[in-house]
Amino acid sequence: MSHKIAPSLLSADFGNLQRDVEMVNHSKADWFHIDVMDGVFVPNISFGFPVIQSIKKHAKKPLDVHLMIVDPDRYLEEFKNAGAEILAVHYEACNHLHRTCQKIKSLGMKAGVSLNPHTPVSVLEDIICETDLILLMSVNPGFGGQKFIENTYSKIKALKKLIDSKKAKTLIEIDGGVDASNFKKLIECGADVLVAGNYVFKSEDPEKTIADLKE
Ligand code: DX5
Ligand code: ZN
Repeated sequence: MSHKIAPSLLSADFGNLQRDVEMVNHSKADWFHIDVMDGVFVPNISFGFPVIQSIKKHAKKPLDVHLMIVDPDRYLEEFKNAGAEILAVHYEACNHLHRTCQKIKSLGMKAGVSLNPHTPVSVLEDIICETDLILLMSVNPGFGGQKFIENTYSKIKALKKLIDSKKAKTLIEIDGGVDASNFKKLIECGADVLVAGNYVFKSEDPEKTIADLKE
């Protein structure tokens, strides 16, 4: 399977959101990556349901929604109604992660679990078979445009090993600081989906930048 690219709309131009959504529609990207931040789990606030509904109206590719919020269980159904196809919650934000994954799937979405850079892959041992996707943060969540954390490579390899040992079908997604200098190595290590925000939207030709990341 060739890898997927999920441009992060956090770095889009919100004054021209429809234009940027159409650009992604037209590009070789596979998913839209949508970052929801509550100012509690992370030191930043991004956007909520009205913005996601507006994106959904124009998006022709799946919405991959990354929840950086405490107690995400309160809103799972609302994210489904807003148009999420893939919904990732943070391991660090869930007391009953198994139940949360079950609920996401029962609502008809793919269940994702995200790990902060300091959280080891080993905590996933008893939940991996319930997940469709693991989102490894390769920066501390909260902001676009940060520097990639090199330790991510060994985490991908450890995660790949865990997935294979459990015969799971889980995809590995990498989020934060992805650019031309690291994307090939990330894929070689076992990444299936690459999120890219700043590198795509701050480039001169975002559509070409997406195509380059697909190479
Ligand atoms: C960070 C978000 C990322 C962010 C990535 O908390 O989860 O999705 O938008 O942006 P870049 O690619 O600029 O690091
Ligand atoms: Zn994200």
